Amino acid sequence: MTSHQPSAHQPSAHQPSAHQSPAPTSPAPTKPSAHQPSAHQPSAHQPDDDLILITGGTGKTGRRIADRLVARGLPTRIGSRAGSPAFDWEEPAGWAAALRGVRAAYLSYYPDLAVPGAASTVAAFAAAAVEAGVRRLVLLSGRGEPAAAEAELAVQSAGAE
Ligand SMILES: NC(=O)c1ccc[n+]([C@@H]2O[C@H](COP(=O)([O-])OP(=O)(O)OC[C@H]3O[C@@H](n4cnc5c(N)ncnc54)[C@H](OP(=O)(O)O)[C@@H]3O)[C@@H](O)[C@H]2O)c1
Repeated sequence: MTSHQPSAHQPSAHQPSAHQSPAPTSPAPTKPSAHQPSAHQPSAHQPDDDLILITGGTGKTGRRIADRLVARGLPTRIGSRAGSPAFDWEEPAGWAAALRGVRAAYLSYYPDLAVPGAASTVAAFAAAAVEAGVRRLVLLSGRGEPAAAEAELAVQSAGAE
C-alpha cells in the first residue's frame, strides 16, 4: 500500500496535509513537500473511508509505496510521528485517529519485527484497524524470521480480508 492522491481532486504527493477529515470544512491541504508525512484528503467525490494508510511512509520502503500509490491517484495517508494525525507505534492512544477513514493499511513496523514485543504491538494495531473498519492489511515482514512469522499470524488472524 502506498500514498497520496493526484489530479484534479488530489493533493499532491508527499504533502503533509491536514489529514483528511471528511468534513467539507476541513482545512485545505498544505503545500507539498517531499517526504513529508501527509494525509491526502479524499476529494469531494471520494468516499470518506477510502484512504490507504502507509505506516513508515516517510521511510525507505514505505516512501516508495506511497509514491506509487500517489502516482496512481489513490488517496493516501502517511503514517508518521510528524503527521497530523500523528501515528506512533508506541502511542496506541493515537491509532484511532490515524485509522479514521482508512480502508487499507500497509504495516511497516519500526524498529524491527524481531524486537521483543513487536508482534504483540502489530497484533494490537491490526485489531484496532479492523475495529476501525480497515478491510485490508499488508505487513512488511521478514522471510523465515520466527518473530516476523508471529506478526504475520497476528495480522492474518485480525479479521481483515
Ligand atoms: N530498508 C530496508 O531495506 C528494509 C528491508 C527489510 C525490512 N525493513 C524493515 O522495514 C521497516 C522500516 O524500515 P525502513 O528502512 O523503511 O526505515 P527507515 O528508512 O529508517 O524509516 C523509519 C520509518 O519508521 C518510522 N518510525 C520510526 N519510529 C516510529 C514509531 N515509533 N512509530 C511509527 N513510525 C515510526 C519513521 O517515520 P517518522 O520518523 O516519520 O515517524 C520512518 O517512516 C523496519 O521494520 C525494517 O526492519 C527494511
